[in-house]
Amino acid sequence: MLSEKMQEALNGQLNKEMYSAYLYMAMSAYSMYTGLKGFANWFMVQYQEEMMHAMKIYDYINNQGEQAKLAAIEQPATEFESPLDMFEKTLEHEKFITTSINELVDLAITEKDHATNIFLQWYVTEQIEEEGNDNEIIARLKLVGKDGNGLLMLDRELVARVFTPPAASGAGGA
Ligand code: FEO
Repeated sequence: MLSEKMQEALNGQLNKEMYSAYLYMAMSAYSMYTGLKGFANWFMVQYQEEMMHAMKIYDYINNQGEQAKLAAIEQPATEFESPLDMFEKTLEHEKFITTSINELVDLAITEKDHATNIFLQWYVTEQIEEEGNDNEIIARLKLVGKDGNGLLMLDRELVARVFTPPAASGAGGA
């Protein structure tokens, strides 16, 4: 059972996760266009992660006997200044998502909605990992600076990132 307010908030989060997927897909396209296949791969894996985040909420709302409501997805940017610019915007966006998840948890606690509170704990943990990944890559991009060879080395490394589907990982993905 979900209150009207909680349904609305969860539907809002579903839309934010879909926008996240769209944003990282745009960054993947831009990376591919600028010749950085590794970065393109990293962002496409991130797109898959975000779709999984969205689908978990979609399934949760439906499993609670309610109807997931789909709203328009905002258009993401299509131009970025550099890989560092993309990752700084990614971190900024993830901080916004973390705040949004925290507000959902606050609402679940206020409403004594224990099921939703437990459901959201996975997202609380996931956001620590998401921000951590972004911080690490930002630090490395700052070390690389304008060194083209360093950037290509990092690009080769990011080619290796793979998406782990929730069923295979047993914990909702990496
Ligand atoms: Fe779904 Fe990147 O948080």
